[in-house]
Amino acid sequence: MAQVTRRSFLGTASLAAAGAAMGPWVLRAGAQAGPIKIGLVLPYSGVYAVLGESITQGMELVFARENWTVAGRKIEMIKEDDEMQPPVGIRKTEKLIDSDKVDILTGPVHSGILMGMRDKVHSSKTILIVSNAGADAISRERCSKWIFRTSFSNWQPNQPMGEWVAKHVAKDVFIAAPNYQAGKDQLGAFKETFVPAGGKLVGEDYPKLGETDYAPYLTKIRQSGAKAVYCFFSGSDAVNFVKQYDQFGLKQSIKLTGAGFLTEPDVLPAQGKSALGVITGHFYTPLLDNPTNQRFVKEFQAKFGGKMPDGFACQGYDTAEVIVRALKAVNGNTQDKPKLVEVIEKSEFDSPRGRFRFDPKTHNVIQPFIYIREVREVAGGINNVPIDKVANVTDPGTGCTLPRPPPLPLWIMHSPPQVVASCRFEWFAMPGDVFAQALNGLAYGVLLFLLSVGLTLIFGMLDVVNLAHGSFYMLGAYAGLSLIAGTGNFWLALLVAPLAVGGIGAMIERSCLRPLYRRPPLDQVLLTFGFIYLFEDLVKSIWGGRIRSIPPPDMFSGSVSVLGAIFPSYRLFVIAFGLAMAVLLFLLIERTRLGAIIRAGVFDAEMTGGLGINIHRVFTGVFAFGAALGGLSGVIAGPIQSAYPSMGVTILIPALIVVVVGGLGSLKGSLIGSLLIGQAETFGKAWLPEASMLIIYVLMAAIVLVRPQGLFGRPLK
Ligand code: BEZ
Repeated sequence: MAQVTRRSFLGTASLAAAGAAMGPWVLRAGAQAGPIKIGLVLPYSGVYAVLGESITQGMELVFARENWTVAGRKIEMIKEDDEMQPPVGIRKTEKLIDSDKVDILTGPVHSGILMGMRDKVHSSKTILIVSNAGADAISRERCSKWIFRTSFSNWQPNQPMGEWVAKHVAKDVFIAAPNYQAGKDQLGAFKETFVPAGGKLVGEDYPKLGETDYAPYLTKIRQSGAKAVYCFFSGSDAVNFVKQYDQFGLKQSIKLTGAGFLTEPDVLPAQGKSALGVITGHFYTPLLDNPTNQRFVKEFQAKFGGKMPDGFACQGYDTAEVIVRALKAVNGNTQDKPKLVEVIEKSEFDSPRGRFRFDPKTHNVIQPFIYIREVREVAGGINNVPIDKVANVTDPGTGCTLPRPPPLPLWIMHSPPQVVASCRFEWFAMPGDVFAQALNGLAYGVLLFLLSVGLTLIFGMLDVVNLAHGSFYMLGAYAGLSLIAGTGNFWLALLVAPLAVGGIGAMIERSCLRPLYRRPPLDQVLLTFGFIYLFEDLVKSIWGGRIRSIPPPDMFSGSVSVLGAIFPSYRLFVIAFGLAMAVLLFLLIERTRLGAIIRAGVFDAEMTGGLGINIHRVFTGVFAFGAALGGLSGVIAGPIQSAYPSMGVTILIPALIVVVVGGLGSLKGSLIGSLLIGQAETFGKAWLPEASMLIIYVLMAAIVLVRPQGLFGRPLK
């Protein structure tokens, strides 16, 4: 609610009295003063950051068209980053409602955050226009009079696809989605029509949201005998899944299909040709030939540097359109909430997706069409070309009027036990699969080694927990990206990007860290933590928020057969490169004078300084070297994983786990720890996906309990 000043209170009170006598005509005369505050709870970091950006841009396009003024009141957007974490999303919602007193709330992207926000929104009678999160329950048993949804329910793009895939693509299908509510909702809706249409589920997997390495799941898909895959992934998950699917050579033999988010224009440029041929269902594609869409695409591209709008931008556009139209209808009066709800419910207009209207029962948008689209190269670009469509797709929710019985437990609704059980058994029994998974684990472990070795060196020598190490990894990936774009030479990037990152590391050590060595460790932790944000913003301002990916060198772009296991040749290169690096580092540390100085420094820095060695210079060198190794791992990981501004935070946890398991400062520990974690995580994902992360933590806890200093660390003082 807007802030109540003495003036506005008197104005509203007298208006109410007169309004009772003179009807709606007076309402128009008594519009409130001050800006209309729109609160946005969206992800501006993490896996779905690109979605948050597109939604915001779609809204800005509409508000800019209105000169940021509606019914004489300024529009003010208050943006909050929910960081993709439900507790953060809920806290930001409370702040927007209780402190900022927003008039209307919009967002979020993540279904779990929406579920968490729901009660606060409902009890405070705040109007929430959901601009992405599809949690089905919000149109069903958890609906609220105050909540509208302009985007979709998770059911909508998927339910029509079940029958379509069974009829037109294949009957034997493997399904996969991230392990959270939206993943379960979306695959549940697919199954609803797929199984009755004669389809058979040959396997089902739920990797964690924000997964960076799908190798264990892709190996399972190959072994499952599936003729097609149906999946829901979005944001950086979609980039990684589609690229790795292609790198593993699955695209040719197992048709990839899914919910539209998989190949939206926010991720298509990073997926590139890997996405060609993928079939998805969605309510939008920028190729729709209605006049509103044509104008939308043109204006959006003009305003946002040629960026192609995606479904998320359309959702933002429609959200702002609903807001503007409703505000005009009540002449800017945001205090009469029931009246606002009434006018929003009646919203109807031409949207880029077609005729927009809400289902009054559920307050959820009725999709004019769900388009079945195929990714093709058209007019010089890669885009989603509609090949079929299903009209008027309405969520089956009965809304607030007639709540459905509580849903069945998820394991009954989404995971027919016989399918999962039989698949699991096969994985345990299949030696070929064990070999392929071990290879996956080796590639992942070597990547972890490259990532963690710089961290462990810095930790061991300088006693600094460098939380910015993930940022060096990110800077390496982005610097590599620009170098490859500029020179077309991957190998040059592999040489120059780490040098540049090492230079940045040296500057940080000399200017910021050195004064803190004699201070408590927390000061250094806080300083390096601050650098995470600094570098994230730097990357956003130089490269923008879009997801990028580094193409592998041409000679390693395909896949090869290794003892019967089809494996991406680039991953084989990573294994060879990582192991060669390990040998070189061992020789450097164990066999050279420099290595002896570093080892002495790790053991006792003061004593080493006392021997006449310029220990400050050694410290700077080690920090720069560690940073360069972080940068190197960013370039190496680039062709496997995608690059996005918060990628540094995502990899920090596994890197820290390796350092703890292997032992602080130990090169050998870093290698053995990485290989161990790589195997444990890969087999965990393949055989016990729900517990794969737990396995890593249990392993770490067990090792630390037996050897608190880690496998090869020095005994703790
Ligand atoms: C969700 O969490 O509801 C969601 C996220 C990304 C795309 C689609 C749905």
